[in-house]
Amino acid sequence: MLHLLTGFEFDQDGYLQILDTASAMKEDPRKYSQVLAGRSGAIMFEKPSLRTRTTFELAFYRLGGHGIYLDLQNGDLGKRETIGDYARNLSRWVDCLVGRVYSQRTLEELAKYGSVPVINALSDLYHPAQAMADYLTVREHLGRLKGATLCYTGDGNNVTNSLLVAGATLGVNVWCCVPEGCGPDVQIFTKAREIAKKNGCELKVFNDPSLIKGVDVLYTDTWVSMGDNTPLDSVRKKYMPYQINKALLEQSGAQIVLHCLPAHRNYEITDEVMDGPRSVVFDEAENRLHIHMAVLSKLISD
Ligand code: CP
Ligand code: NVA
Repeated sequence: MLHLLTGFEFDQDGYLQILDTASAMKEDPRKYSQVLAGRSGAIMFEKPSLRTRTTFELAFYRLGGHGIYLDLQNGDLGKRETIGDYARNLSRWVDCLVGRVYSQRTLEELAKYGSVPVINALSDLYHPAQAMADYLTVREHLGRLKGATLCYTGDGNNVTNSLLVAGATLGVNVWCCVPEGCGPDVQIFTKAREIAKKNGCELKVFNDPSLIKGVDVLYTDTWVSMGDNTPLDSVRKKYMPYQINKALLEQSGAQIVLHCLPAHRNYEITDEVMDGPRSVVFDEAENRLHIHMAVLSKLISD
């Protein structure tokens, strides 16, 4: 059984198949309206969400299936009953578990004790379906992925890790320009770099924003992720040199700018860039729906 827990589950063909299916579904959604007829999934969120929740629910609906939202924000998984029992129960009723969780271990336990595919809708370490939607957006705008260079700036986090994993697999050069000590997860980076070597692309981490030149895509995310109570203003000084603003955009040469959203406007990205002609952040948000449809059809109907 195939899960989407980390993004390492798929090789390049697997990623391209999902991206191609998503493009086809975007082009003609009605053709796929019965793909999940009679199928259902539990959508479990320990943290807030706008995009991921809406698009997973809609993805089930558009494929003829049913997504059941389970609000866990007032009581984390494992409190009322064990995660194992939770997974064993749900597996008797639904065909898939979609989870946004504080700890990656929670997803691994759901996969261990459940008997249906588990999809990571964001954890402390990964946001794999986000990265798929991001590269679909890049491909739509640049017309290619192999050999393109995406530079991520700001805080090395779950989104950064997933951009590295998916980028390495798809042959994209992924640069991370981050303050010292704020890089992506070292183990994930090392594993992704082995994949990148085979695919002829380069992953690197550096601290000096003046080196961001000659890239195709600029990408940023919040400086403080969900679950971290650090006040945003207390880290402003550290991250401000990494802000995506007009000067950095011009220096970088990037044709497009991405942000997974929600954005903290005029912190990690200025209004001017986010609302400017090179911003594709809402195309990116739209593509979450098409990717989720493709992922659900791959994991459930296959
Ligand atoms: N990008 C993203 O995952 O957005 P939400 O937190 O609103 O789901
Ligand atoms: N890194 C962010 C992503 C939000 C979609 C977080 O985990 O809060």
